[in-house]
Amino acid sequence: IEDVARIIKSEGVKNIIVMAGAGISTASGIPDFRSPGTGLYDNLQKYKVPYPTAVFDLDYFHSNPKPFFELAKELYPSGKYRPNAVHYFVRCLHERGLLLRMYTQNIDGLERLAGIPPMKLVEAHGTFTSASCTKCGKKYNGETIKDKILKGATPRCQLTPLCYGIIKPDIVFFGEDLPKRFYYYLKDFPACDLLLVMGTSLQVRCYSLYFTAARITQCDFILSYFVEPFASLVDSTRATTPRLLLNMVKVGPFTKPSRRTDLSITGDISDSIHKLADALDWREFLQETMEAHE
Ligand code: OAD
Repeated sequence: IEDVARIIKSEGVKNIIVMAGAGISTASGIPDFRSPGTGLYDNLQKYKVPYPTAVFDLDYFHSNPKPFFELAKELYPSGKYRPNAVHYFVRCLHERGLLLRMYTQNIDGLERLAGIPPMKLVEAHGTFTSASCTKCGKKYNGETIKDKILKGATPRCQLTPLCYGIIKPDIVFFGEDLPKRFYYYLKDFPACDLLLVMGTSLQVRCYSLYFTAARITQCDFILSYFVEPFASLVDSTRATTPRLLLNMVKVGPFTKPSRRTDLSITGDISDSIHKLADALDWREFLQETMEAHE
């Protein structure tokens, strides 16, 4: 933690990239996906899906959208969940002019609620703030369909009486491409001078067109190469850029660090973030940022 604080304080560090996953929101009361027992994928029995990831599978959604909308009722950012110290720590990085971009896989909207400006965010797995008709593509504001979803109804396109397609929040499903903003990484990662990887298993399956092609052709090479665009971002920095993992357990390349500048701090991320804030002399800054916003 001292080492990382020293890096953050050093003159040369101006472009920090944060890559985040569901583990940063567990302290806000939202379960992650894959933690055995508590993760969402172990607790989907009531939705009666044939396999856990079916709730976010585009093919399955077209045959039965109900499980997704039932789950969306719980996941919809509705003010029930609040950002925690980890989100505010990233906000502090931004306030200090150190945050180049935050790439998040989360769809809980807590980064925005913590006041991280949308231009600093890449919501790689989409967001509930907008939605689209799955038939005609008409764009809707997420707020327009929120009431329907919270009441347990399936939102339908009103464009013409002929459409009546299902409106889906712009969450990236398996089988869909990532948002265009994801490709900011081509410019951002070479400029990054510290990468913070937080609360993610780095096992992301954000399947793209390539994946669909690979699934059809059963081509394992294409599969292994293309199905983990988010996880593979960690390797898009320069080889000398320090990378820090803050996660319950070591994951991805941090299990067998191949770079001398790789660091891991395992354990509860809220604890680690408070320790890091202390090492940076940011305890009050973090506290004030949280209090001002909450
Ligand atoms: P996962 O559930 O796969 O991983 C969460 C990671 O956070 C795990 O390694 C946990 O050990 C860790 N973790 C949980 N609580 C923690 C805590 N309090 N402190 C420290 N670490 C903690 O979640 P993601 O990596 O975000 O896709 O999953 C990626 C994607 O898979 C999701 O965006 C979702 C899913 O399919 C879509 O929704 C499209």
